Amino acid sequence: MNKFLGSIPTNLGNLPNLLVLALKRNYLGKSLHIFTSLTNCSRLSILDLSSNQFDGVLPNPVSNFSSQLNGLYLGINEISGTIPGSLTNLFNLIVLGLNDNHFIGVIPTTFGKFEKMQFLGLTGNRLSGEIPTSLGNLTQLFKIDLHGNRFEGTIPPSLVNCQNLQILYISQNNLNGSIPLQLIGTSSPLLDVNLSHNSFTGKLPFEVGNLKSIYKLDISNNNLSGEIPISIGNCLIMEHLELQGNSFHGVIPSSMASLKGLRHLDVSQNNLSGPIPEGLEKLLFLENLNLSFNNFEGEVPIEGVFKNISAISLIGNAKLCGGIPKLQLPKCHVNVIKPRKSIGFKLAIVIISIVQIFLLFSSFLVWMKKSKKKSPSTVSTMDLLPNVSYKELYQATSGFSPSNLIGSGSFGSVYKGLIHQEERPIAVKVLNLQQKGASKSFMVECNVLRNIRHRNLVKILTCCSSMDYSGNQFKALVFEFMTNGSLDFWLHQGLDNENQSRNLSLLQRLNVAIDVASAIDYLHNHSMQPIIHCDLKPSNVLLDNDMVAHVSDFGLARLLPITNDSSGKQTSTIGIKGSIGYIAPEYGMGGEASIEADVYSYGILLLEMFLGKRPTDDMFKDGLNLNNFAKMALPEKLVQIVDPILLPREVDEAPTAIVATREYNNGNEIQVDVEAQGIPNLCQMDPNVHKCLVSILETGLACSMESPKDRMKMKEVTRELHLIKKDFLGSAIYTQM
Ligand SMILES: *[C@@H]1O[C@H](CO)[C@@H](O)[C@H](O)[C@H]1NC(C)=O
Ligand SMILES: *[C@@H]1O[C@H](CO)[C@@H](O)[C@H](O)[C@H]1NC(C)=O
Ligand SMILES: *[C@@H]1O[C@H](CO)[C@@H](O)[C@H](O)[C@H]1NC(C)=O
Ligand SMILES: *[C@@H]1O[C@H](CO)[C@@H](O)[C@H](O)[C@H]1NC(C)=O
Repeated sequence: MNKFLGSIPTNLGNLPNLLVLALKRNYLGKSLHIFTSLTNCSRLSILDLSSNQFDGVLPNPVSNFSSQLNGLYLGINEISGTIPGSLTNLFNLIVLGLNDNHFIGVIPTTFGKFEKMQFLGLTGNRLSGEIPTSLGNLTQLFKIDLHGNRFEGTIPPSLVNCQNLQILYISQNNLNGSIPLQLIGTSSPLLDVNLSHNSFTGKLPFEVGNLKSIYKLDISNNNLSGEIPISIGNCLIMEHLELQGNSFHGVIPSSMASLKGLRHLDVSQNNLSGPIPEGLEKLLFLENLNLSFNNFEGEVPIEGVFKNISAISLIGNAKLCGGIPKLQLPKCHVNVIKPRKSIGFKLAIVIISIVQIFLLFSSFLVWMKKSKKKSPSTVSTMDLLPNVSYKELYQATSGFSPSNLIGSGSFGSVYKGLIHQEERPIAVKVLNLQQKGASKSFMVECNVLRNIRHRNLVKILTCCSSMDYSGNQFKALVFEFMTNGSLDFWLHQGLDNENQSRNLSLLQRLNVAIDVASAIDYLHNHSMQPIIHCDLKPSNVLLDNDMVAHVSDFGLARLLPITNDSSGKQTSTIGIKGSIGYIAPEYGMGGEASIEADVYSYGILLLEMFLGKRPTDDMFKDGLNLNNFAKMALPEKLVQIVDPILLPREVDEAPTAIVATREYNNGNEIQVDVEAQGIPNLCQMDPNVHKCLVSILETGLACSMESPKDRMKMKEVTRELHLIKKDFLGSAIYTQM
């Protein structure tokens, strides 16, 4: 990224130990003669000449480069001609970027030999022919970008073998045929798929619901038809769905309302009909809804996204009515059945009603059957359960048996239980009531908490206030059971058990961080009265079956008795003031529980999640803590502090960077001496991952500032993390592409 001009001096080829040559974004050119001399650099691992002015054809010596070459970046130049099949001599290539040049011809079938290839970028050329079946051999492939070429034929079903493929861009080609079912597989890790602007035909397969990780799907401007499958509602983390410019008919399935994270939905220019599902108004994050040019009819909802006239597009649907006044749609007519109709008509109504009742009843039966077989996503009867007795909880937990104990802390103990055999399990939190004077308003407070609902809060199902069999006071809360346990377990304890790999990926961690931030933001700013959590830490963050995080133990301060301690100050009896390591510094100085203190705990939690170290780790002493540890290493020494699990896998093979010594000097500086051999650290970490991690850690630091007034607000944190995620997913895995 300088202003170098002219050609690259050939004597660079005299550097036999050259590992990396990166001259990206200069004005270098013209022909690639330099390749001849670079073949002498027998250790060359990365060659980046992207965004320059090289032209001519790819010279032959390219295939004589060091077989150690991992990354060849030639994107955004003026290179023409065909792609030589001999390129596969570079069998160690992990990244090949030939994007945005003038290449013609086909992808050589020999490309199937690139066994280590993770990223293949050929976008923006004039390549043609079929996408070779042999690409299915690239089992390490993470991202393939072929968009904006002239490829023909179908998507090779062999791509199903690319089991690591997360990003697939093949838009703007001349591809046809149907979307292969195989591609969708059952455990596909696909995150981002763009098939738009081709000529695909057939249906969107029902199996699309198997794409559990997908967050962006664009199949717009093809010739797809049929109905939008109801299973789309299973793609729970979908944010961006583009179906416009096809021939879909039928209704928008109401299951679409399950896509709680949906931000952008475009179904314009199809032949969809029926009503606009009301559920769409409940999608809090929906920013953009385009329903134009279809045959929708009936009432336009008025809440949620429908409140904002610039967020929705409804034109070209002649039969819509209602909505907010600004839309200027005709009023909806209420259908009144006029009396005094012929007997035949009355009879018809009676028959229709009977049929309807029958249908309703039978669908109810089907539903009953289903909800028995497959445990429902919400705990149905428990929801309705008013209060539960000690006896019921005793039976549900086999007499609070130690084998059902799943956690304990200063507040009490948590047991797993089953109220009714066919129901999902519950978690019972038995409060520790050794202190006298338990709050009389327990049930009142508990019912307040029961009414606090948020996707990222553990749902309180019911409460119990009673006597136990020994005549002591007994108070318990009953929660939804979270199958995947606590975040603390995933971050730390899993490591002790070698058989289980409990690794959370960067994206999973980021999702959890967003979930927790949303929950705390909700408690602080959107619940009926602000609620301070007081004890946010990883063991209070629980993960459900889909790895969505739910914050637990909120509002405990309301439930637990307040007593006067010796100094006459009101304090709560049980560890409500937080846990060591996560408590804001002002607490030590007699500060009170506050929203800012929650933000501090959140900041520590965020740092812990990405550094993989507890704030109570042995290394944190003599003034060194998680916070200043992170602060002093950012951004250059990130690689040395970040949770090693988050570093790319190749690090295992390449010589690793070892933090040799960590000393804490009085000079307020940590000396982080790194013994790095071989490839420098920066090559091991993708710049986007680096950027993402730095932004996250900076957010963590901004939350855990010493002074409460300097800390970020939870609302800003949520927004910031969403942006970081968007950036991370949106940017190519390798910046050049
Ligand atoms: C590439 O290497 C082979 C043998 O290693 C040699 O025969 C050939 O001439 C080289 N090609 C170029 C263009 O340097
Ligand atoms: C796709 O649809 C367009 C217009 O809707 C039509 O011109 C074209 O022939 C169709 N192609 C195929 C392959 O059906
Ligand atoms: C759209 O659907 C209507 C019926 O809902 C049908 O009559 C019409 O032919 C369809 N148009 C196209 C282009 O498929
Ligand atoms: C909605 O879709 C139509 C047709 O595809 C398009 O012309 C229009 O620009 C879209 N509106 C918005 C707000 O994106």
